[in-house]
Amino acid sequence: MPENTTGYTRPAKVFHWLTVLGVICAISLGLLMMNLEGPLQSRLFDLHRSFGALVLGLTALRLGWRVFHKPPPLPAGLPAWQHQVSQLVHWALYGLLFITPLLGWAGTSAYRAPISVFGLFFLPPIVDENRALSEKLLGLHGLAMLALSALITMHVGAALFHHFVRKDGVLARMWPWRI
Ligand code: HEM
Ligand code: HEM
Repeated sequence: MPENTTGYTRPAKVFHWLTVLGVICAISLGLLMMNLEGPLQSRLFDLHRSFGALVLGLTALRLGWRVFHKPPPLPAGLPAWQHQVSQLVHWALYGLLFITPLLGWAGTSAYRAPISVFGLFFLPPIVDENRALSEKLLGLHGLAMLALSALITMHVGAALFHHFVRKDGVLARMWPWRI
């Protein structure tokens, strides 16, 4: 498929694949850090928050950019309901990419733990100190993370279905190189 004709543009692909990298790092570090103790745990907490903050920043930029840049049209012949479901899943993904790190930030603020972003700068607290509220917000952070993981599983399943079953070039639209 020729670059930038029926595929996503280069900025759209860069946003997409940097987000994938950030989310994979945030989820893996999040699960690992909850099962460790000591100084390594605290290092992983810092890294987890850093990758989470990266996802939040990328998503804010990406949504701003996306408002002015429509995606390329889907292949003709795709059933209308599949088109609608894909729109719904994409916007739900955007929502959760925003809400999940925001809840992590708010929960950590209420706990009054510092949020260092890759040792470069600190994110300011956005909620007053309140340990009970922190517990609630981090519980919601965990639920949002589960919903995000479920949608990502559906999304990747759909991309693979398009590529291997329908063979309609949908995966190639977002893939970083020609496939
Ligand atoms: C898309 C971004 C993020 C994802 C996918 C994510 C994912 C996760 C995961 C998988 C866990 C482990 C949950 C568990 O095993 O119970 C977790 C926990 C946690 N996350 Fe995140 N996270 C993100 C962003 C952030 C951000 C930006 C912060 C803070 C600035 C943060 C703070 C925390 C904290 C403090 C915990 C521990 C919660 C607890 O003690 O119950 N997360 N996150
Ligand atoms: C963390 C994991 C992922 C997230 C959060 C994510 C998120 C998104 C979002 C929000 C869009 C919509 C772009 C737009 O039109 O505005 C999208 C499109 C797309 N993604 Fe992902 N994605 C992830 C992983 C993947 C993976 C692993 C694949 C490939 C196996 C993939 C393949 C695609 C494709 C092919 C499209 C374009 C769909 C179309 O043409 O309508 N994504 N993704």
